[in-house]
Amino acid sequence: MERKDRILTGDRPTGKMHIGHYFGSLKNRVKLQDEYETYIEVADVQALTDNFNNPEKVQRNVLEVLKDQLSVGINPEKVTFFLQSMIPEIAELTVFYSNLVTISRLQRNPTVKTEIAQKKELFGESVTYGFLGYPVNQAADITAFDATIVPVGEDQLPLIEQCREIVRKFNSIYGETLREPKAYLSQNKRIKGLDGNEKMGKSLGNAIYLSDSEEEIAKKVMSALTDPNRIRKDDFGNPDICMVSYYHKLFTQSEYENICEECRKGKRGCVDCKKQLIKSINAELGPIREKRKYYDENPKLVKEILMEGTSKARIIAKETMKNVKEAMKLNY
Ligand code: TRP
Ligand code: SF4
Repeated sequence: MERKDRILTGDRPTGKMHIGHYFGSLKNRVKLQDEYETYIEVADVQALTDNFNNPEKVQRNVLEVLKDQLSVGINPEKVTFFLQSMIPEIAELTVFYSNLVTISRLQRNPTVKTEIAQKKELFGESVTYGFLGYPVNQAADITAFDATIVPVGEDQLPLIEQCREIVRKFNSIYGETLREPKAYLSQNKRIKGLDGNEKMGKSLGNAIYLSDSEEEIAKKVMSALTDPNRIRKDDFGNPDICMVSYYHKLFTQSEYENICEECRKGKRGCVDCKKQLIKSINAELGPIREKRKYYDENPKLVKEILMEGTSKARIIAKETMKNVKEAMKLNY
């Protein structure tokens, strides 16, 4: 029987999603849901690998990341959302796969390496076994659902490569059982923060959240980084070093060229330019905010979506487990 392509992707529930997530992955998910059978994981177990000392934070964000996705138009009738901790097969596969990966290979994984360096405060001089091994857990996520396409950002490529290696090793030892997934790079690169920082993030205080109110957005845009050499309205500006123009490119696309030209010629004031951006952002986020309000008012429904999806997802994970156990001579 020919097996169809299937998508799996996921997020660590560690915070609310911002417009970096929106342009980087969520919009893409909305598009892909019509093209492929799609599974989206709320990766609470993975989130604990670097938040084991803060389980409240992970729990609080499980429904938040789900609501973020529902409100941008990912349709639970098309996509199966599930909660990682409620699929014990993933944990079981993680243990089986851990024999197929060496410690030094994990230590060389560029994504893991970078993250460990960033988390000195949590890990001190020695990283936990769980965090070092999270790529194995992620390989279990992907293969449990027999997924072949994994939409991710560039930073995740080494994890997909590691998963492919595990699959090849498994198949070569235990016989052809698992399929090798491919990464699907979302076309948009990382979105910069309001302060011009390469990265948008909560700790940096430079993010626009999908759940921000109109007032919050206005306040944030008003304080965004502009061309610092511009003092008067008729000074010639440089939109290339201005975050307001950077965001106009994302939110006011059709007028972007015009905005830059006016800025360069000193025909556009920064305050008006910002006000226009606030309007554009609110035009895009307004409908998202409306939908979110509906889900905020119906928390039972949100939970139901997750629970129903999880039951459905588990059926597939169980099937994989049966095949894996057979291959590994664990089929009692
Ligand atoms: N590691 C991913 C991230 O930090 C989240 C994730 C968990 C994931 N499991 C996954 C992504 C499986 C793709 C497939 O963004
Ligand atoms: Fe930036 Fe607009 Fe001011 Fe130009 S006019 S510097 S694009 S805010």
